[in-house]
Amino acid sequence: MVQLYNNNVLTNYIGSRLFGLQIFFQLHNLFILENSMTKKLEGKVAVVTGASKGIGAAIAKALASEGASVVVNYASSKNGADATVTEITGKGGKAVAVQGDVSKQADITRLFAETKKAYGHVDILVNNAGIYDFAPLEQITEEHFHKQFNLNVLGLLLSTKEALTLFPATGGSVINISSAVTTLLPPNSAVYTATKGAVDALTGVLAKELGARRIRVNAINPGLIATEGTNSAGFAEGDMKTWFETTAPLGRIGQVDDIAPTAVYLASEDSKYITGETIEIAGGMR
Ligand SMILES: NC(=O)c1ccc[n+]([C@@H]2O[C@H](COP(=O)([O-])OP(=O)(O)OC[C@H]3O[C@@H](n4cnc5c(N)ncnc54)[C@H](OP(=O)(O)O)[C@@H]3O)[C@@H](O)[C@H]2O)c1
Repeated sequence: MVQLYNNNVLTNYIGSRLFGLQIFFQLHNLFILENSMTKKLEGKVAVVTGASKGIGAAIAKALASEGASVVVNYASSKNGADATVTEITGKGGKAVAVQGDVSKQADITRLFAETKKAYGHVDILVNNAGIYDFAPLEQITEEHFHKQFNLNVLGLLLSTKEALTLFPATGGSVINISSAVTTLLPPNSAVYTATKGAVDALTGVLAKELGARRIRVNAINPGLIATEGTNSAGFAEGDMKTWFETTAPLGRIGQVDDIAPTAVYLASEDSKYITGETIEIAGGMR
């Protein structure tokens, strides 16, 4: 009798341990499956220009968190670019920093040669590097004009041209960071607004030109976003900030994490039938 009782206890004990192990392995498999299924950009390669800080750094991190290998481009802030890379790799992602002034053809050629060396191809190009220098008409000079057009427009075109050689036959996604200034038309921003108007226009042109190669081209047009750049320009505080807070339907200026998820969306298959669009992310400002 005692023997029978002991056998039952033993059987129940082993049964419950096996059941526990089974649950453990099922949860483990579910975790692995979920992790691989929820990453939208697994196996993709992204180049983000101007990713040492601000909007570019946030986009680079967001793309990496969805599984993309990221080339973090910068012009002079090596520390900032290294910090972006360290944050990505610290979370198990893949990234390399590559210096290059994307207003210069030679640097662009080198940027994409380094990209090819690191990852072999490109699926996603984020044309983010840009400068904003506001000035009234009386202060506009050739230098003021060329500095902004050479980076914001020419650099974007030459980078896209260079990336074309590395896009696979399956296509890809180009995301241009334009600006809400193209609809807000703020005074004292003639040259900067003209550069971003050009970006909106060439987004539409290139979408038509590259559609047959299954390369989608879209733009994100942010409103006033708090970044290192807007902080040092004095935009993220003072009159400009107050104007935004009192005029924008959502009553605040933006943060970089208001922008990055839309870049992930435009980079991923979720937006596979969207091209040639400009997406305003400005808290409703028009
Ligand atoms: N922040 C806003 O409110 C706002 C609103 C609308 C649109 N945008 C657009 O969003 C983009 C990013 O703005 P942000 O505010 O994030 O700027 P940011 O904080 O000033 O950062 C600019 C980034 O671009 C890089 N960069 C500058 N010149 C470069 C060059 N010649 N070659 C390569 N990289 C260069 C910088 O690298 P280094 O640090 O190495 O120089 C930095 O990583 C720009 O195109 C801007 O026009 C911004």
